[in-house]
Amino acid sequence: MEHTPALEKKLIQFSGIKPTGSLTLGSYLGAIKNWTELCEEYESFFCVVDMHSITIRVDPALLRRNAMEQLAYYIACGLDPEACTLFIQSHVPAHAELSWVLGCYTMFGELSRMTQFKEKSAKNADNINGGLFTYPVLMAADILLYDTDVVPVGEDQRQHVELCRDIANRFNGVYGETFKLPRAILPKVGARIMSLTEPDHKMSKSDDRDPGSVLLKDPDDVIMRKFKRAVTDCDSERCVRYDPENKKGVANLMSIYAAVTGKSFSEIEREFDGKGYGVFKPAVGEAVCGVLRPIREEAGRLLADRTYLDSVCAAGAEKAERASRRILSKVYKKVGFLPRPR
Ligand code: TRP
Repeated sequence: MEHTPALEKKLIQFSGIKPTGSLTLGSYLGAIKNWTELCEEYESFFCVVDMHSITIRVDPALLRRNAMEQLAYYIACGLDPEACTLFIQSHVPAHAELSWVLGCYTMFGELSRMTQFKEKSAKNADNINGGLFTYPVLMAADILLYDTDVVPVGEDQRQHVELCRDIANRFNGVYGETFKLPRAILPKVGARIMSLTEPDHKMSKSDDRDPGSVLLKDPDDVIMRKFKRAVTDCDSERCVRYDPENKKGVANLMSIYAAVTGKSFSEIEREFDGKGYGVFKPAVGEAVCGVLRPIREEAGRLLADRTYLDSVCAAGAEKAERASRRILSKVYKKVGFLPRPR
């Protein structure tokens, strides 16, 4: 038979971001930009994982607003709702349903070892709830429901994707081949964009007022101010050289500049040879403004057209619902739930 590549099934990518706070430059460079690049090659599902947001207390009105804004930014960043499935997690009930089943195949010890759980429970000592603990199980359900092959995420989520594989593998071991085993893919540059004020910490999106975080919705003057105030290192040489061990702040700015311009670290070192941080920092700011401006403007246009965003949401939920039902019924059958008579 003749080889017909057009009919070959594409591999599947799935990813998501929590709508807590606004998307940042870190979300864009560390995740969304990478997703858009893989869209050609993969069948794609991108989720606004609002159910993951309530492990900490959030204002309901703010959660709704952030979820819709995030969907608009997904599109503005280049994810085409015609070409990929964009949807809100809470619109598709199979996520919560599969999550319960998978929780019964996930060990207490495994969940206790998750770095993010340890960090978050240290930070929220007065609210270490069950959802915070089983968060990675819901994430595993997100991924496994779509027969996902690859999960493009930042470095900090690698451990959760590995746990997802372990859960899938364990389930397959008991019930026979049910889930595909997904793997994380990390972006080359920009996997870990750090805070501009505390380069030891990841750029956070949970606090919109954090001066170390550049938000996708920040206007140019705010972006420039944040970069001019970015922490560089108090070493004596004051030159632009890539040394992530000893010059964390500069290395982070170089990563950002590399990611937005496509230049290599050695090209950047040459460009700013003898020029010092006072020239370098605003140059990074300008380059970032150039990339974020069209995204911000497009998101603004989209957010003014609520009818369109609602239609994207509805169509995405329908596609996701259809895809996820298939796997969920397979799982329900395998574990022995009595089919509902119709
Ligand atoms: N846990 C991810 C984060 O904090 C968000 C997330 C939830 C996710 N479900 C997912 C990422 C599924 C990839 C795939 O960033």
